[in-house]
Amino acid sequence: MSVYILAIESSCDDTSASVIKDGKVLSNLIANQEVHRAYGGVVPEVASRAHQSNIIPVVDMALKKAGIDKTQLSAIAVTRGPGLLGSLIVGVSFAKSMALSLDIPIIEVNHMQAHVLAHFAEDPKPTFPFLCLTVSGGHTQIVKVNGPLEMEVIGSTLDDAAGEAFDKTGKMLGLDYPAGPIIDKLAKKGKPVFEFPHPQMQGFNYSFSGIKTAILYFLRAGVAENPNFIAENLEDICCSVQTRIVTILMAKLRKAAKQTGINQIAIAGGVSANSFLRETIVKEGEKHRWNTFIPAFQFCTDNAAMIGVAAYFKYLKKDFADQSMKPTARLPMTENFR
Ligand code: KG4
Ligand code: ZN
Repeated sequence: MSVYILAIESSCDDTSASVIKDGKVLSNLIANQEVHRAYGGVVPEVASRAHQSNIIPVVDMALKKAGIDKTQLSAIAVTRGPGLLGSLIVGVSFAKSMALSLDIPIIEVNHMQAHVLAHFAEDPKPTFPFLCLTVSGGHTQIVKVNGPLEMEVIGSTLDDAAGEAFDKTGKMLGLDYPAGPIIDKLAKKGKPVFEFPHPQMQGFNYSFSGIKTAILYFLRAGVAENPNFIAENLEDICCSVQTRIVTILMAKLRKAAKQTGINQIAIAGGVSANSFLRETIVKEGEKHRWNTFIPAFQFCTDNAAMIGVAAYFKYLKKDFADQSMKPTARLPMTENFR
């Protein structure tokens, strides 16, 4: 008998629902919350309210698109953390109620593990062990993935995440939130003519707060000389910042591949949608004979399909949660909840 899992993701500002059949994605619906654009960032309280109004229609559409009825579901999976507590509460409460009413198990999923496991939504799939550079709005990590639910963080940012570096740069440039995709687009028309510092961190760790400060001083100096400095150089500034962020990310990833001897290299998380990072990883992969894995765009940024794919691994082990499960805002990558 086939296993149908309804997965729900509500950790930040996107409400998403997906149906997975025997580990394969049948539907993956995402309601974006445009409302945060006006505030230049995600407002937690506003996000929770938007999840509340989005969740029923999104789940309904995910079931319809998958062509199944809720009574066919085998389990309901939900992001337990990490994320914004108020946003997580909406998804977890909904999942619990629906699981209770259908009398089916509930599966709790670690959002960061799910970003990594998004690679199992489609072929080709990496084999274990592989390295995954997980780059999102809140995290920047190099993860050694030993098994579906066995992950070791071998490097991480000591301050800002790579996505945050994109978003904060965007704010300084007067761009909308989230700025990552906008910078990506503008950078295509620019050249990396401006130099920003490359931090020297220990081991496989990262730091992005220095580059943020360097950009701030650079822009202040430019605008002091020419009030139109940003507008006149926007594409080159975006290209220079993006080039530096990607160079920083790649340097540690190369080092990790070399030291661990692992040549299966994956990228995941919102920033893995960045076209320059995607191009660079392919080029480096050819140079170093890596097997590279780049997720389809719909599986890069937050989505419920990755939650469902991760949940399927847990389903096979009968690793179920119960009604006492609580959402958790802070949660390490290694936490499997049991
Ligand atoms: O994984 P994600 O959707 O949410 C978190 O779990 O944080 O990642 C969101 C982050 C944001 O910082 C956004 O600016 C960034 O991913 N992002 C990008 C691109 N698309 C999304 N950054 C650079 N280039 C992109 N194309
Ligand atoms: Zn995410």
